[in-house]
Amino acid sequence: MPALIAYFSPTGTTRKAAERIAIEINGECYEIKAEKPYTAHDLDWTDRKSRSSAEMRDKNARPEIAGPLPDLSSFSELYIGFPIWWGVAPRIVNSFIERTRPLGKKVTVFATSGGSPLLPAVRDLQEKYPELDIESGKLI
Ligand SMILES: Cc1cc2nc3c(=O)[nH]c(=O)nc-3n(C[C@H](O)[C@H](O)[C@H](O)COP(=O)(O)O)c2cc1C
Repeated sequence: MPALIAYFSPTGTTRKAAERIAIEINGECYEIKAEKPYTAHDLDWTDRKSRSSAEMRDKNARPEIAGPLPDLSSFSELYIGFPIWWGVAPRIVNSFIERTRPLGKKVTVFATSGGSPLLPAVRDLQEKYPELDIESGKLI
């Protein structure tokens, strides 16, 4: 069974990484899009009042995902990719994991960042979802 590469990428960097992985492993891509797209101001991490700052301050923030979720039943493996935000995964990645509940799938996490490492983000997800089989992929 093929792999699904689900990624969130408001400014396109992680998308390129996801597309490369898709070619490498012959997988299929799914873009995690926010119901309300992120504007440049929403992404301003220097502004404490921006949307991304507010979401990342709130551990329970779960931004809505636009459109249909993928049907995971036809995939044995799931890759989840995202830009590191505040050292961890953007909250919409939690929305995705909680909505799709990939129980019994091998979940490999990858990310892009401005320098922050991947491992703390992976550990955070492993701690939040101990019932899932989450392992670290690469920081790209
Ligand atoms: C709200 C926000 C928070 C960020 N926090 C971090 C961070 O903690 N560490 C880091 O290295 N980069 C951080 N970045 C930079 C992104 O991780 C990096 O630019 C990423 O490659 C963007 O991916 P994208 O083009 O797929 O959105 C942050 C960017 C944004 C917009």
